[in-house]
Amino acid sequence: MTAQNHRPAPGGENVKVEFDDGIAWLKLNRPGKRNAMSVAMATEMNQVLDELELDDRCGVVVLTGEGDAFSAGMDLKDFFRATDNKPDIERHRAYRETRNWQWRKLMFYGKPTIAMVNGWCFGGAFTPLVCCDLAIAADEAVFGLSEINWGIIPGGVVPKALSTLVNDRKSLYYIMTGEQFGGKAAVEMGLVNESVPSDQLMGRTRELAKTLLAKNPTVLRAAKNSYKFVREMTWEESAEYLTAKLDQTTMVDPERGRAKGMGQFLDEKSYKPGLDNYPR
Ligand code: ACO
Repeated sequence: MTAQNHRPAPGGENVKVEFDDGIAWLKLNRPGKRNAMSVAMATEMNQVLDELELDDRCGVVVLTGEGDAFSAGMDLKDFFRATDNKPDIERHRAYRETRNWQWRKLMFYGKPTIAMVNGWCFGGAFTPLVCCDLAIAADEAVFGLSEINWGIIPGGVVPKALSTLVNDRKSLYYIMTGEQFGGKAAVEMGLVNESVPSDQLMGRTRELAKTLLAKNPTVLRAAKNSYKFVREMTWEESAEYLTAKLDQTTMVDPERGRAKGMGQFLDEKSYKPGLDNYPR
């Protein structure tokens, strides 16, 4: 056990972290408020995500909610009402803190991220959900863009995030009707990768996290983040960037994965990448 293993887990009142064999279970921790996201939670989440990126107990982050909710969205009291009558600079900071963790940090995080949607998932909760690399939901989870039903538009960067994964017809349908949907529908529209019964959710998420933990972390980081960057680039820019990124990744990879893989296939003939995970 390293000295670092004796350190307390990061987090505080609103965010909880549990380490489990390379997995950091990162929990929105206001179950009594259905994990509604307050200003204080945003501040804490930014600190925790920064710490986890450098913590060797964490190889994969699983973002989930304590209790029966993933998150009931932005906290109507402790985010919206709490900032309504504050000076503009304070509102600006609250929005910036929120965007930082929900979008910028998670979208290009240095370690793989999985959103595990265990229950209610409303409004602002769609942003961190989309910005995680992968997502698994419970069949019983309930998703909803409820904003239209009580007089606001989906804000933050929710529609932008949604449009990166879900087609326009589906996005606009749920934005305009506020209708709720479950885990299986979320899979069908590409919002999450898989949906499983609640009692299998943790097991399946752990299995997926273990798959990611077995990969070369330097290459995995470059693979997932380069995919996200090229979505915004032209073909020409993507080709230039990816060629350079491939070389850069090979140079900085301490495991020298490229040379090892080539040697195993071409020289030793001990490994066929095309037969990895091949169904037999
Ligand atoms: N903001 C602030 N407080 C909330 C929120 C929220 N988004 N969601 C739940 N809470 C609070 C409730 O006010 C209640 O607080 P109290 O115990 O002090 O009265 C507590 O959490 C429990 O909520 P209940 O409504 O009693 O729980 P229930 O299990 O019956 O319902 C549900 C859960 C369906 C999630 C319901 O709370 C709800 O509809 N929440 C709002 C969902 C929503 O529309 N979110 C979008 C917000 S807008 C945005 O994100 C941009």
